[in-house]
Amino acid sequence: MMYKELYEKAKEVLPRAYAPFSKFKVGAALLSKDGEVFTGVNVENSSFGGTICAERTAFVKAVSEGVYEFEAIAVVSSDGQAWPCGICRQFMKEFCDDDFKIITGDNADELSVYTMDEILPEGFRL
Ligand code: THU
Repeated sequence: MMYKELYEKAKEVLPRAYAPFSKFKVGAALLSKDGEVFTGVNVENSSFGGTICAERTAFVKAVSEGVYEFEAIAVVSSDGQAWPCGICRQFMKEFCDDDFKIITGDNADELSVYTMDEILPEGFRL
């Protein structure tokens, strides 16, 4: 699957984000090694610490369906370039090789592609 196609899937789910507190909506589309796509959005909560990011929603959906190996994730936000937060980078690191790709778009849909190693160098794993 092309990165643009994956990015379009992230854009498709973006309106489903539940972000009444930050108003910052995020959509993600995670591509598994066997070609399946798992989407996710951020889901906020009145108890702010209960909020889950779009990227982790996608990973949790995939892992709970028995899928553990991944190629790439596309991330889009309602306001500028979407950068995975620190917790999401660590979460991705658990399941992804150094060459896993992170595709982010700005609001002009200009795509940038980074690797796991670039966004979390020397990442921790037990
Ligand atoms: N958020 C994500 O969903 N993904 C990111 O990569 C960065 C932050 C969400 C969490 C929260 O709902 C909102 O964006 C503001 O932090």
